[in-house]
Amino acid sequence: MTEDETGTLARVTSLSSARLRAFVRKHTRLQPVPDVPGLRLHMGSDVMALCALAGAELGMADPDLPYWAFPWAGGLAVARHLIERPAEVAGLRVLDLAAGSGLCGFVAAREGALRVVANDIDPLAGAAVWLNARENRHDVGFVGRDMSGDGPPDVDVILAGDVCYQPGMAARLLPWLAAAAASGTRVLMGDPGRAYLPVGLERVATYSVTTSRELESAASRETGVYTFARPLARTASVVGDQADLGPGVGGRGGSTA
Ligand SMILES: C[S@@+](CC[C@H](N)C(=O)[O-])C[C@H]1O[C@@H](n2cnc3c(N)ncnc32)[C@H](O)[C@@H]1O
Repeated sequence: MTEDETGTLARVTSLSSARLRAFVRKHTRLQPVPDVPGLRLHMGSDVMALCALAGAELGMADPDLPYWAFPWAGGLAVARHLIERPAEVAGLRVLDLAAGSGLCGFVAAREGALRVVANDIDPLAGAAVWLNARENRHDVGFVGRDMSGDGPPDVDVILAGDVCYQPGMAARLLPWLAAAAASGTRVLMGDPGRAYLPVGLERVATYSVTTSRELESAASRETGVYTFARPLARTASVVGDQADLGPGVGGRGGSTA
């Protein structure tokens, strides 16, 4: 998401839910998700064209990428992990932080989570999660505000797919995730080595996930699933070898590191 000069997250819209959902329906196609059999999401094709359309719809001069229209590598790794280890979420209360399309939350619901709430600050993500939940017949709630100013959420597990690609976002979310982990919440973060992936995390699994060349310059990426087992040494240091989310992404005014 875009930050203004004061670091404030600004993504308020006066558009109705119906209009946001109509926009998502119009500009995406329901497609199967690579690596996650049985799940279908409303997905875009041309990321930059969709970005421009979303900006015009929301009245934003410098819109963020339509993250909600694609499954990202970090989320795919978390999804693969949950499919392999359903006990991570079965019978538990789950928050899908920075949910985008809702991918991680849907897999958690499918693997038997007691309750799933998706969270994202992009209003179009709210629309996409709603449509995708309906399509996949999952009961997933949605919170559309930045939760990182709150105390630890009242959940058992937080899933965080691909949240380390912007410095401001990482600075906000990583300490909050670390605090939640310190208070006893299981945090599972999927990341393919983005620029702001912190050191000090414990890697619990690694997957080669299917990505698109348009998003990641590669057809697959090795992607880790991490927990906050120990206190973080630093929260914004580079351990990955790529500082962007792909060719169209990295060049976006430096907003994606
Ligand atoms: C790269 S996408 C990942 C989406 C999904 N988790 C996945 O892996 O497919 C990152 C998402 O984080 C959201 N985001 C950015 N800052 C956020 C914040 N402070 N709170 C909640 N969501 C945020 C963006 O809107 C975007 O949808």
